[in-house]
Amino acid sequence: MMPLIEVRNLTFRYDGGSPALNGVNFRLNPRESVALLGPNGSGKTTFVLHLNGLLSGEGSVEVCGMKLERRNLALIRRKIGLVFQDSESQLFMPTVLEDVAFAPLNSGMERGGALERAMAALKTVEMEAAAARAPYHLSAGEKKRVAIAGILASGPEILALDEPTTFLDPPGQRALAELLADLPQAKIIVTHNIGFAQKLCTRAVFFQRGTIVAEGPVDEIVSRFGWDLALDRSKSRR
Ligand SMILES: Nc1ncnc2c1ncn2[C@@H]1O[C@H](COP(=O)(O)OP(=O)(O)O)[C@@H](O)[C@H]1O
Ligand SMILES: [Mg+2]
Repeated sequence: MMPLIEVRNLTFRYDGGSPALNGVNFRLNPRESVALLGPNGSGKTTFVLHLNGLLSGEGSVEVCGMKLERRNLALIRRKIGLVFQDSESQLFMPTVLEDVAFAPLNSGMERGGALERAMAALKTVEMEAAAARAPYHLSAGEKKRVAIAGILASGPEILALDEPTTFLDPPGQRALAELLADLPQAKIIVTHNIGFAQKLCTRAVFFQRGTIVAEGPVDEIVSRFGWDLALDRSKSRR
């Protein structure tokens, strides 16, 4: 079975700093949903930014059998969609519909087709009623849904979400979990929210100081590193 993502020995340092990633090995299998757990600063976001070439370190990254390199970049960015922690950095058009249609339009699709795709993606996240609204007027939960629709409009096989529940209240978190559970894509979910990980993921990896130090069923990783996770959750709630 060909993995959807195969990362080998990935190492990266931000300018002049110590390594933010230090020999990461990771594989995502088809239909899998994997939680990326670990304390703040352990490299989770840096890792996710390597999956579609927003950052590029030493080692190798393959997505859907393609090596991540310049000539594959456009194709890989359609295969894997990144949903950033802060939805606002992802939403920038005057209306929700135009925002969601941006990627298809940008990839050369004609306007009618792109808008149709965008509308379908908005239906999937139950935000079609907001199509004509301004993204910055939406609630945090609504923004997250629109950001996800913007990714779905490109027809990805993999979704990578960086701390998607951060700005959401508990009902918003539950609604997001239900939405994600219904999406057929394989998923990588960076989260400090253990319940969220348990609901959505069958496997977890644990990051520490730029590398993956453990992997296994979510419950097993949580009970092994639960103290670290709890500590970190209380931090991020402040
Ligand atoms: N833009 C940046 N410039 C310099 N260092 C960074 C930058 N972003 C993150 N780092 C550092 O890289 C390490 C990993 O950070 P990050 O990937 O954000 O961790 P996590 O997402 O697990 O909290 C940390 O030491 C952090 O301080
Ligand atoms: Mg992060």
